[in-house]
Amino acid sequence: MDKLYKGLKPSRRNFLRGAAATGVAAFGGAQAARAQGAPDPAITEIKPWMQYLGDGVDARPYGMPSPYEAHVRRQNVEWLTADPVSSVNFTPLHELDGIITPNGLCFERHHAGIAEVDPAEHRLMINGLVDRPLVFTMEDLMRFPRENHVYFLECAANTGMEWAGAQLNGCQFTHGMIHNVMYTGVPLRLVLEEAGVRTNAAWILPEGADASGMTRSIPMEKALDDCLVAFKMNGEALRPEQGYPVRLVVPGWEGNMWVKWLRRIEVGDQPWHHREETSKYTDLLADGQARRFTWEMDAKSVITNPSPQAPITHGPGPMTLTGVAWSGRGTIPRVDVTLDGGANWHQARMSGPSLMKSMHRFYYDFEWDGRPMLLQSRAHDSTGYVQPTKDQLRQVRGENSIYHNNGIQTWAVNENGEAENVEIS
Ligand code: MTE
Ligand code: CO
Repeated sequence: MDKLYKGLKPSRRNFLRGAAATGVAAFGGAQAARAQGAPDPAITEIKPWMQYLGDGVDARPYGMPSPYEAHVRRQNVEWLTADPVSSVNFTPLHELDGIITPNGLCFERHHAGIAEVDPAEHRLMINGLVDRPLVFTMEDLMRFPRENHVYFLECAANTGMEWAGAQLNGCQFTHGMIHNVMYTGVPLRLVLEEAGVRTNAAWILPEGADASGMTRSIPMEKALDDCLVAFKMNGEALRPEQGYPVRLVVPGWEGNMWVKWLRRIEVGDQPWHHREETSKYTDLLADGQARRFTWEMDAKSVITNPSPQAPITHGPGPMTLTGVAWSGRGTIPRVDVTLDGGANWHQARMSGPSLMKSMHRFYYDFEWDGRPMLLQSRAHDSTGYVQPTKDQLRQVRGENSIYHNNGIQTWAVNENGEAENVEIS
């Protein structure tokens, strides 16, 4: 034992406690202290799994999480939509750490359910204002030079329920219409260049192969900039839920434009208002005017732990708070955290890769005095933009819209460590 832990540095926890910072005590904190009193059955008892041979290497050809992690799952809110086929479920942000969303936990948003596409029967067609209309098989697509990029996808309706006030009790439901994945794909620019985009071409209209045949107008400038025709997520084939075998990746822009089961891209000289979703994705202002073309996702953050689904269970003392932040315009160099509803702000500790248009992970390590807290986080992005309060947003945009709510989220934590979704002004 001693030998195993010899290399460990004294932890901050023990340092704060003034305890002798050696061996197991340094590693286990409060747990180790308890073990010194009464014998801990978790140590003294012989457990069942120590007494039988486990599954061999042939038993689990595609690995699944431990059965003890069964609560870590996507969830929908039944009353939110009329039918699960045209609906949404939510990423369990409070169960995750780091910046990558595991494939099986990426939220889903479908307009006509999951299309089960046979890749051998799937084609991607490029037509419209091009010199050579083309049809690609999946094999053709994979012969282009491909790239890897980590990007977040956030639905424009994420946090939409919270415009009018605190509604849903859990960051999974208030902020879970987002995932962050490494994509492997071909720059859309290369595919368009192959077809030869005409000089008067200014827009593209990607179309999905699902029963909704979803389409969105995207300006050519963005199409030629950083969009990807992606076929892998986190190293493996896209999941059917995420558009297998191929989806459009539109970094930093609202999720609706990331057409899944991508089967056609029409090139044109103006947006296709009559045919597509763009008309629906506007933000109605108080004076009756609507904001249009609000594609970029503004900087946003949320504390994932503690939160309503993830209360503090260990009582007062040293603890680490964590959350995620992202911006459709760049990176997140800084996140501030407050424990007292904005009276005092502290700079959070960023940890993990800081990538363009990707989720960032932040932590704040502090000593909880056991008193109630009002937790908030505030993201700063690399353009200098600072995440606004919900009231600041409402002053500018009124209360009609449900899209693009990137306001600061508040969790009220009581003395038992339980957290609740509240709004303070
Ligand atoms: N693409 C197709 N073909 N059909 C759809 O229903 N939904 C869109 C977009 N692309 C959709 C689609 C919406 S509104 C969002 S937010 C994202 O896909 C969700 O992507 P996800 O299911 O991978 O989370
Ligand atoms: Co959406």
